[in-house]
Amino acid sequence: MNIEDIRRVLIVGAGTMGRQISLQCAIHGYDVTLYDIAPDALDAAKAQIRAFADHLISWGRLTRKDADAALARITTTNNAKQAAAQADLLSESVPEDPKLKCRVFAQFNKLCPSRTIFTTNSSELMPSLMAAKTGRPDKFAALHFHQHVWEANVADIMPHPGTSQATVKLLKAFTESIGQIPIVLKKEHAAYVFNNMLNALNGAALDLAVNNVASVEDIDRAWIGVMKTMVGPFGIMDFVGLDLAWQISDMFAKLSGDPQIQARADFLKHYVDKGWLGVKNGRGFYNYTNPA
Ligand SMILES: NC(=O)c1ccc[n+]([C@@H]2O[C@H](COP(=O)([O-])OP(=O)(O)OC[C@H]3O[C@@H](n4cnc5c(N)ncnc54)[C@H](O)[C@@H]3O)[C@@H](O)[C@H]2O)c1
Repeated sequence: MNIEDIRRVLIVGAGTMGRQISLQCAIHGYDVTLYDIAPDALDAAKAQIRAFADHLISWGRLTRKDADAALARITTTNNAKQAAAQADLLSESVPEDPKLKCRVFAQFNKLCPSRTIFTTNSSELMPSLMAAKTGRPDKFAALHFHQHVWEANVADIMPHPGTSQATVKLLKAFTESIGQIPIVLKKEHAAYVFNNMLNALNGAALDLAVNNVASVEDIDRAWIGVMKTMVGPFGIMDFVGLDLAWQISDMFAKLSGDPQIQARADFLKHYVDKGWLGVKNGRGFYNYTNPA
């Protein structure tokens, strides 16, 4: 398969990431099918994709004509069979749960043509964990995006040992074709490249808060003041979603048995239990849209 053979992209999961990847692919000329299991997720997704397009227009990054053409290329559906029928490339963005992801890949392996390339946008899971369930391990790798895809324009391509070189080459060409800079990993490595560096920063920030060394706000102020960035580590975690940040910390705490990582996870859980999930629902470590 060549890059010219990829025309329709199937996005599985219409949440935070699925919506962004859909618009990015449509802007770059791909026909997109956005599939979700939850009927109300699709209405919310359509509204947010439209809002993202309006933002890009107001920033001078997109014309109204091109935005309308991109929006017209996106179709949404709750019908998995219909979604899969014409897919050349599948990008999976369902929640970070290995059993769920395996179920989704097994389901779409039965529904998609054998030519379809499968990718996961998982933040932390190794593609080798899911490869057998895709039924096409040679045509499967991680293709991992960052929020907001039109700003953070690098995407990790991470093969597992059974991924063919042809698939890596194709994914590199696809990534470039949607305006992203491919970062090709030479081997499987938890948390890819940027996220590895980010996790170290967030872990250090959480340790300072858990051990009551300084307040969340002062830890962020220290980073922002020196690095001259708009946000510090806790602001970044609000942006990512505290539910996802907690899931990842908790998974690593359980895997490693490290009490310090568990303490980080428990600190995050305290916010998640209150329903404070970050920017996405207006309250996390900070109040939005006016964070301290
Ligand atoms: N949020 C981020 O900053 C970010 C960045 C990069 C990668 N990721 C990864 O992307 C994936 C998705 O994260 P998100 O933040 O978009 O999650 P999300 O919770 O915002 O969205 C997940 C969507 O998947 C849908 N879903 C659940 N089960 C499904 C199924 N069986 N079939 C189809 N759809 C189903 C849900 O209804 C929901 O709409 C995760 O693996 C995460 O680790 C997240």
